[in-house]
Amino acid sequence: MEVILAQSAGFCFGVTKAVEIVYDKIEEGKKLYTYGPIIHNESVVDDLQNKGVQIINTPEEIDDITEGTIVIRSHGVSKEVQQIIENKGLTCVDATCPFVKRIHHIVEKESMEGRRIVIIGNAGHPEVEGIRGWSVTEAIVIESGDEIENLTISKDEKLCIVSQTTFNYKKFKDLVEIFQKKGYDVSVVNTICNATEERQTEAKEIAAKVDAMIVIGGTHSSNSRKLYEICAKECENTIFIQTLDNLHLNFPKEVRCVGITAGASTPNNIIEEVQNYVRINF
Ligand code: F3S
Repeated sequence: MEVILAQSAGFCFGVTKAVEIVYDKIEEGKKLYTYGPIIHNESVVDDLQNKGVQIINTPEEIDDITEGTIVIRSHGVSKEVQQIIENKGLTCVDATCPFVKRIHHIVEKESMEGRRIVIIGNAGHPEVEGIRGWSVTEAIVIESGDEIENLTISKDEKLCIVSQTTFNYKKFKDLVEIFQKKGYDVSVVNTICNATEERQTEAKEIAAKVDAMIVIGGTHSSNSRKLYEICAKECENTIFIQTLDNLHLNFPKEVRCVGITAGASTPNNIIEEVQNYVRINF
């Protein structure tokens, strides 16, 4: 069996950094918390919890903590949450991905200079919630053209449009165009991270030429689900798994070549295990 492993499979730069920070901090032996799960991967989160790392999900939970270190994950948090952690006298270790941090800086500066912030992205995603919390005025989150049609903001307002890092570039461009056609004065900053686009492009290319495709990712990982959708369009034998345990394969005889890719929160050891399993057993 020939196996093609995507070079872009697995942890992106921001996730690698955040996970390394948490494992380094465990060594210090102090009480350790992460604000939200550090990544969307159950095996990593379970391993950290077994090592004593606790997850906080709301600002209210910070109130009950009297000592220790809180690591902010790669998605980042609002300015308010960061200040709550610091005001409590707790050690705050900021593992926000630098690409997300850049958006926080843009949003804070542009909103202070009077532009209304428009975030193109998913309002319920923690990264977007965090970005929203760096605007000094109420930011707007937009995911579709219909939402722009229903906006009630005046054309006299100046806008600054940014994007969630994992948003689709074509969709971003289309939505920006709608704002421009409606006559808004917009300053546009493309804040989409290349890592996502590169991973999707490579996955699509591989899926188009293999007989079966395996996508590895967490069930809550939106970038992994998106990868699956892209691959399934190119290759009907596409399967989505979280770990090797989910892989009960019985490839048809005609399958001679298998492609493997993985979402940004899939650890290398899981990718290796799956790759070795396929090479050895088929
Ligand atoms: Fe950062 Fe891009 Fe990963 S924004 S967390 S490097 S997907």
